Amino acid sequence: MTKVTYLVFVFVVVGLIYLFSGSYNVSAIKPHFSFVESFLHVFKENSIKKHSKNVIVPKLDNQNFIKRGFKNYDEMCTGCHGVPGEPESVVQQGLYPKPPELNEMQEEYGTKELFWIIKNGVKLSGMPSYGVTHSEDDIWSIVAFMKKFEDISKNDYKIMKKSVINMDYNHIHKDGKVHKH
Ligand code: HEC
Repeated sequence: MTKVTYLVFVFVVVGLIYLFSGSYNVSAIKPHFSFVESFLHVFKENSIKKHSKNVIVPKLDNQNFIKRGFKNYDEMCTGCHGVPGEPESVVQQGLYPKPPELNEMQEEYGTKELFWIIKNGVKLSGMPSYGVTHSEDDIWSIVAFMKKFEDISKNDYKIMKKSVINMDYNHIHKDGKVHKH
């Protein structure tokens, strides 16, 4: 056995022992080492960028469509991503990685990227794929709402919420049923 083969062998054996020993702590309150976190971040950002490159963006600048997107965001996303200016939900506080807030997402991601993320979800993070259950139209409406505002305040959010109270629209899941979230 050459030195290198010996080292690889030892490395694999130690790795396997660690893997099956249960020593790694999967607790959501035990964060990754910061270098692992940075690595995962770069991995995720580049993956999203590459996979969303060929998404074709439809026309999004329509007031009713934006309102529909707001309603969808309010029903489907606030449990984890919160409402601007409001205290964090129990789920938001406990999830790891922590779901970014609305304004952070608007700032960090482009239109194609947002659509791709919402449609596909993010592996091993708690971010669900809405493409499994919802139409592309409903997903685009959320993107239309998110991209309409640079920075949405607590008050803007309240005004939007009032404006959709009597809106005659409920999104329909792919199974054909109207679900209340
Ligand atoms: C069950 C909780 C949960 C729900 C509901 C949820 N998300 Fe997320 N979302 C997450 C988590 C956790 C992350 C962080 C993932 C990460 O950092 O890797 C995330 C990340 C994101 C990101 C940024 C991608 C990233 O990882 O940086 C966007 C954009 C996003 N969510 C949009 C939405 C939208 C829009 C909705 C509603 C249609 C939604 N999410 C519903 C948990 C959720």
